[in-house]
Amino acid sequence: DLYGTARKNSAGMDLSVAADRERLSLAVAALDAGALTAGTIIAGDELGEGPGEARTSPADRARSIGTAWSAQAQHVDTAFAIARAAQPAWDALGGHGRARILRAMADELEAHREVLVAMCVREAGKTFADGVAEVREAADFCRYYAHLAERQFGGPETLKGPVGEVNQLSLHGRGVFVAISPWNFPLAIFTGQIAAALAAGNAVLAKPAEQTPLIAAAAVRLFQKAGLPVEVLHLLPGEGATVGAQLTAHPACAGVAFTGGTDTAWAINRTLAARPGPIIPFIAETGGLNAMFVDTTALKEQVIDDVMASAFGSAGQRCSALRILFAPKDTADALIDGIKGAMDELVLGDPADPRTDIGPVIDEEARAGLAAHLERLRAEAKVLHILEAPKGGSFFAPALAEIPSADFLPREVFGPVLHVVRYEPGRLAQAAAPLAAQGYGLTLGVHSRIEAFAEEVRQAVPAGNAYVNRSMIGAVVGVQPFGGEGLSGTGPKAGGPHALLRYALERAVSVNI
Ligand code: NAD
Ligand code: ALA
Repeated sequence: DLYGTARKNSAGMDLSVAADRERLSLAVAALDAGALTAGTIIAGDELGEGPGEARTSPADRARSIGTAWSAQAQHVDTAFAIARAAQPAWDALGGHGRARILRAMADELEAHREVLVAMCVREAGKTFADGVAEVREAADFCRYYAHLAERQFGGPETLKGPVGEVNQLSLHGRGVFVAISPWNFPLAIFTGQIAAALAAGNAVLAKPAEQTPLIAAAAVRLFQKAGLPVEVLHLLPGEGATVGAQLTAHPACAGVAFTGGTDTAWAINRTLAARPGPIIPFIAETGGLNAMFVDTTALKEQVIDDVMASAFGSAGQRCSALRILFAPKDTADALIDGIKGAMDELVLGDPADPRTDIGPVIDEEARAGLAAHLERLRAEAKVLHILEAPKGGSFFAPALAEIPSADFLPREVFGPVLHVVRYEPGRLAQAAAPLAAQGYGLTLGVHSRIEAFAEEVRQAVPAGNAYVNRSMIGAVVGVQPFGGEGLSGTGPKAGGPHALLRYALERAVSVNI
């Protein structure tokens, strides 16, 4: 049972309970001394020379939340040397031993839920609900990969062969894996990549996104608290172009797990291709140009609810988020009116306020990129509705625009901008063709009461995760294994039964007895 049907996902927190919200508010207030730190963590020692970089909050650039120090070139060499020496013993511990530590990590995450949510709020600008979901997903990854470690790495499998011969196949770690993560899931993806690599028997060097080193350092400390030998996991914060490039170019790197933009995946692929030595796996989960197709039989209210959650939830900063809504000409105006009305109900503002639906985008660079996109929409397409952004932080207000066709968007727009394309019923294939030609393949939504329509959409638009008559975000570990195809990723899917296999070596032994 690779899905672990008896396994339970983390319960999270009920934010409708005032006392629970209050606990989160207190945890946020406790961070306001601005004392968080993230240095390089090598074998449990936290290193940081000089004054470091002051970190501020996306919702309020005047609010100092802590200090981060970048890894230096010599740290990369030292971390590889220690991790390499420690990996064989970690592999030899076997799937059951490693699973115990991963489960202890899940318990630690839950035991520190409030402070971790508070860090997601302050460092990443997440709402309480999104922060709670981060901790849940991080714990779920640890428990699910523990489950797989026991089943797939529990010891050699004996295979049927000729009489007089014993044939066995076993899975092992590859060595030192490099895990490179994005800021938009600073705890869940950061922890998930590490948990997968560890479960398969690898040591790990983890490089968090430049924007979220503080949460990453907290997670590494919890892995140590959970009993992970300190030599097995090291934190190397810093810029992608320097620290990330050094890690991936290093001769001791035995594999790379990456989640981030498609352009960055290409850059890493080039680094790996130029690297002498063994050919190593590259697991890349990247961006998408995700669409939802609605037909005239769809239930308008349900479509609007699901569009709002998919396009604007998490300020549109999910790889899975809805970017293009394909609406049939006959009902497009009614849908657009409904979406505008629902947008007017959104509460924008400080993510530390439990009433907030939409917080800031991650930084000024992201805000400026979205503002430039909005200018293009105003000049070359039609902005249908836009809210007013709060002042004082990196806020970008949700916007709705109409574009003539999917090829108006040459790439992923990573924020709360929903584009609508009207299509002629009966000409779905023609409307979908420019989208499919872009080559992405992450998420896809369909709203229809006709099964054949959903099937037609799925045939026309490739996607790793398709959602019918529901929202298209929030994949659940072990339930909706998540990941894209084409420009959107290599697989294997995170939170799915095959997740660990590319992190592993297979060894076959045949003995003539
Ligand atoms: P990004 O590509 O800018 O950065 C991701 C990571 O790569 C960071 O840690 C960064 O420092 C590092 N990096 C950058 N250049 C590098 C280089 N040359 N060598 C090695 N490492 C390098 O992405 P981001 O802005 O942090 O995250 C948002 C992107 O991530 C979006 O495109 C989103 O769709 C994608 N994403 C995908 C998934 C998925 O599962 N498919 C999930 C979350 C986010
Ligand atoms: N796994 C995340 C989601 O499904 C990206 O929204």
